[in-house]
Amino acid sequence: MNVGGSRCGMTDLTHSKAVHYYKSQFTERIMNDTANKKTVRLRVNGRALECVEGQTILDGCRAADIFVPTLCNDRRLIPLGSCRLCIVEVKGYTMPVASCSTPALEGMEIVTENEELLRLRRATLELILANHPNDCMCCEKAGRCVLQELAYKLGVIPPADAPRHDALPVQDDNQSIIVDVNKCVRCGRCITICRDVVRRDAIVMRTPDGEGETRLMPAGTITLLTERCDFCGECISTCPVGSVLDKRQFGNRKTLVASQSSSE
Ligand code: SF4
Ligand code: SF4
Ligand code: FES
Repeated sequence: MNVGGSRCGMTDLTHSKAVHYYKSQFTERIMNDTANKKTVRLRVNGRALECVEGQTILDGCRAADIFVPTLCNDRRLIPLGSCRLCIVEVKGYTMPVASCSTPALEGMEIVTENEELLRLRRATLELILANHPNDCMCCEKAGRCVLQELAYKLGVIPPADAPRHDALPVQDDNQSIIVDVNKCVRCGRCITICRDVVRRDAIVMRTPDGEGETRLMPAGTITLLTERCDFCGECISTCPVGSVLDKRQFGNRKTLVASQSSSE
């Protein structure tokens, strides 16, 4: 994930502040991960692995290049455990567990892929896609969207009989960020990065009028342009789908057609 690139409309000062937060969090995590920690031995898909005490099962799998699908996980953030796509089976456990929030323990025997896990992950993705606009053909995030990639990888298409919801208005009333809550998968990453990394707490998940479904909202007022948001763009950097986007991206998606015609 690019933490050093330019962001929408942010000042250099704001950006370097955010990068400083990142660096301190990364350093802290790496130090915590390795300093004076015991080694934990476990097996994943029959393969022997070593983790550092305190790491999660997902950390161990990633370090060993074992693919586990994730939607709500961002290494910069505390595990959110909201998407349930990272489930794995652990011998002796009655139910699959979220690998992003389950510590790796000595002697664990873990399975990351089988028919049942695939069935459960597909069912989760189908539920998400049933509540998604699925306008991938013209979405600015296409090609970089985690939801699109996982649907492709796990062979899930949007259910044909999904109820159609009225589209909620796209929030476009500021200089930098476009928020389309219709595409939000409620992973919580943007809220967490804004609260824990940027320390602005500018966005929340709540119901607009105290009833109905919760959705991503600015904290306080009805627009993103509040005194709390400094447009650092870190919510954009973590959103796995096309729900929070940099305005400057629009219309600039690289396409195969464009690159073919420019090489002619
Ligand atoms: S909502 Fe938070 S993370 Fe997003 S631009 Fe504003 S301050 Fe930054
Ligand atoms: S806007 Fe994006 S990052 Fe925020 S909760 Fe929705 S999908 Fe997750
Ligand atoms: S990545 Fe573990 S629950 Fe989402």
